Amino acid sequence: MLDKKRFLVTSALPYANGPLHIGHLAGAYLSADIFVRYLRLMDKEVAFICGADEHGAAITMRAKKEGISPREIIDKYDAQFRDSFEKMRISFDIFHRTSSELHHRTAQEMFMDLYKKGEFVEQSTAQYYDTEAEQFLADRYIIGTCPKCTNLDAYGDQCEKCGSTLSPDELLPPIRSTLSQSTPEKRTTSHWYLPLDKYEGMLREYIEKGELNGRFHHDASAWKAHVIGQCKSWLDGGLVPRAMTRDLDWGIDVPQELPNSAGKKLYVWFDAPIGYISATKQWAADQQKDWKDYWQSEDCGLIHFVGKDNIVFHCLIFPAMLKAHGDYILPVNVPANQFLNLEGQKISTSRNWAVWIHEYVASYPDRIDELRYNMVKNMPETRDSEFTWKGFQESSNTELVNNLANFVNRVMVLTNKYYDGVMPKYEQLLTFKASDNAEDEASFKDELELISEKVEEYCLCIEKYDFRGAMKTVMEISSLGNQLLQFNEPWKLIKTDPLIVEACMSAAVQYVAVLSVLCRPFLPDTADRMRKMLNLEPITEEGELKELRRKLSVFEALVPKTHKIGEPEHLFTRIPDEMIALEMEKLQSTLDMNTSTNLAKGEKTAFTALSATATYDDFSIIDLRTATILAAEQMPKSDKLLKLTVDLGFEQRTILSGIAKHFSPEEIIGKQILVLANLAPRKMMGIESNGMVLMAENAEGKLSFVSPPEGWMNGSVVK
Ligand code: MF3
Ligand code: ZN
Repeated sequence: MLDKKRFLVTSALPYANGPLHIGHLAGAYLSADIFVRYLRLMDKEVAFICGADEHGAAITMRAKKEGISPREIIDKYDAQFRDSFEKMRISFDIFHRTSSELHHRTAQEMFMDLYKKGEFVEQSTAQYYDTEAEQFLADRYIIGTCPKCTNLDAYGDQCEKCGSTLSPDELLPPIRSTLSQSTPEKRTTSHWYLPLDKYEGMLREYIEKGELNGRFHHDASAWKAHVIGQCKSWLDGGLVPRAMTRDLDWGIDVPQELPNSAGKKLYVWFDAPIGYISATKQWAADQQKDWKDYWQSEDCGLIHFVGKDNIVFHCLIFPAMLKAHGDYILPVNVPANQFLNLEGQKISTSRNWAVWIHEYVASYPDRIDELRYNMVKNMPETRDSEFTWKGFQESSNTELVNNLANFVNRVMVLTNKYYDGVMPKYEQLLTFKASDNAEDEASFKDELELISEKVEEYCLCIEKYDFRGAMKTVMEISSLGNQLLQFNEPWKLIKTDPLIVEACMSAAVQYVAVLSVLCRPFLPDTADRMRKMLNLEPITEEGELKELRRKLSVFEALVPKTHKIGEPEHLFTRIPDEMIALEMEKLQSTLDMNTSTNLAKGEKTAFTALSATATYDDFSIIDLRTATILAAEQMPKSDKLLKLTVDLGFEQRTILSGIAKHFSPEEIIGKQILVLANLAPRKMMGIESNGMVLMAENAEGKLSFVSPPEGWMNGSVVK
């Protein structure tokens, strides 16, 4: 896989119309960062390219919503992106902007090159025009009825209810413009189309066989199945010419020398991927390199990291553009990820259902690697996956704290304690057995060979874009390290068998040195701190992994003998319950807010239909009383029931209530409540329950007590 001399690695340019969330991170940024750091550790030349996507309707819509100019919007989010990415330690070589002059020029040149080669077809079609706003409407600005699910508010590019991709002409009436709410009319306008149908055969060979111009281009079997699947289904559906220009006022002008170019802009999906090229040009100029060594040289491997909604643009449309031009290389892989969900729901910017990166880095600046670790564990590499705060806490506490941090700390503490931090002699490692037990012939040499195998496995995983798998091998090495200590018990043997302890500790320090390199792509801060503890040179990502593999293969010490290590430190601390509770509360308040907005909008689904009619007599038999919860405990062997002791003023009662999944006993003691006081007694799990606590349930199934005002007398009649 690493058969190229150079690599050009890109992450999808995020739209500068809203903050980044964990879905973005897991989709296209962290994966690319891991891969790039790995390439650098393997001594490859790499350019890691990204930037802000600052054109298109996404930007103008946001500007309109916030009541500020598109320029202010892009400046705001461009700055926020830079800060978020830097704090998450995403190591772009350049983060550029599509609003830059260089980019405008590069995109226009590409357009002119294709135009001059006769690659475009000019076509006139009737498009929706808003006569009040006096402009043609971008697909997103048109609302109509979805032909698939009859949703009345489908957009001209997509129905958000059923997820279908649409074009404005498929929408059924009533059609409205979101700019003025008026009914748009159709007006004729002309645009330049890229005839994708012309490239269908070439794209099919490229995607299905990995061939270009009848020659081997890349290993098609190394592409993810879902990526190939999506491309094939597009190809099977037949490709049609696609307009590369739009009637808009925000974007890159169609070169003025063309006839009929007034008021026309380049289509955002034409200009955005060219953003990779202009960013590379800027970077190369800054570094005194030649950008053509990257974009126009067969020695270079181009790899696009994107989310699944960007697959066809990077696998079919952009390659068709590059091929049409003729001088450019095409991607050798597009390892797209699927979607990351959050606590059981789709991440949604408009519903504020997300973990926002700028908020996370501000709240937890010392827990960057914990988030990176969890993102890798949940990376939607081949199917959609899920982030939960509980899962985040658990994986950090068990894997990072109990396994990795614990191992490294023990090694550091023991080496300092027994040898004053000076490495025991390395030769011991190869001559002493790990155990006197005749059945167990494993020597420390075998242990090191095992580590060597793990390192190879790690490399294979990363080269297959299986980052979860690679991270797992890192944790396995740490587990093996813990086992090494557990099995040899240096704290016991130090008195009786000091030579074995020397060998064991010497091996353990080598493990830590291996981990410090392997952790680097995933947990860069942690790797830095391990190096510091070991008192080794910081990792600069200039071939350290290549060197490590060489040393392991000849049993050369990674930490030289008589080297003095530094002081122990804790790499990770436990994620406290409070942090999780706080984050869950934040999400809960988003849910509450969304429910009330939906109710305000009159969304009927939030209501349950009324029960059958009750007569006055039916009601009069019901005796409701105010009460206070005096005591509460979990019913043994039940995850639903709480056993409550309730003060009704005139007496105390035991009531069993099925609310254990919603409330903990501690949080409800002292709560004032309403009780159905004349409910027939009922025995459950050997205990008699006398009455029922009234609760209100919202559309999400969340429960709330129904309470009288504070201080209200217990036993009052409710009628
Ligand atoms: N801005 C697009 C999105 O967020 C991605 C653009 S990627 C590029 O979906 F290729 F166009 F750069
Ligand atoms: Zn629909």
